[in-house]
Amino acid sequence: MTLYASQDDKKRAAAEAAIQHLPKGGILGVGTGSTVNFLIDLLPELQLEAAVSSSKATEERLKKLGIEVVDLNHVGGLDAYVDGADEIDRHLHMIKGGGAALTREKIVASTAKQFICIVDDSKWVTQLGREFPLPVEVIPMARSAVARKLVTLGGDPAYREGVVTDNGNVILDVYNLNILNALELELTINNIPGVVTNGIFAQNAANIAIVATDNGIEVRKPE
Ligand code: 5RP
Repeated sequence: MTLYASQDDKKRAAAEAAIQHLPKGGILGVGTGSTVNFLIDLLPELQLEAAVSSSKATEERLKKLGIEVVDLNHVGGLDAYVDGADEIDRHLHMIKGGGAALTREKIVASTAKQFICIVDDSKWVTQLGREFPLPVEVIPMARSAVARKLVTLGGDPAYREGVVTDNGNVILDVYNLNILNALELELTINNIPGVVTNGIFAQNAANIAIVATDNGIEVRKPE
């Protein structure tokens, strides 16, 4: 038995539940992806002063709804950032970047007091990276050099063909990493010359996760 007919229904339910956790008015940081798209449609309810966007795609969607989008450089800091995830664990560490927006997402999230993650329960995992490959944004000329370093870390990197990020870079999707210590691996990979950032969000984990399950919405805190 499930309350929801589809995964999209769960994503929509997580977005609807998130609205109650977001500050009214003010400036909100907004993530990228299909779950966040459901949320964006509801944002007019919050009567925001403006939003800071994590991607060109989100910016377009916000503007279509008449929501002003401001440059992060013109904002002192954000009260809240809301985004989806490709995977999330009980520490509320995440893998992100399935939509190739990881770098801007990480930057905007890092300026917010609170990171609210909205997901359906298919994203909830016991260990990050077993199912979903880790996206790594890389400066194009460093692609092969970075790939070789990732192999020494035990990963199998695959070039995401045909994808150029909003920052003009490329993505390597790294399979088979054994992510036992997400905090440490995030820093190790970010230290490879040519890496812009990687999709582990552990240094800046979510503060709450709003998870749509078969039985309804659960609000989870880090263990
Ligand atoms: C984009 C992301 C997204 O948050 C992630 O891919 C989840 O997307 P969706 O809500 O479509 O499942 O990190 O870079």
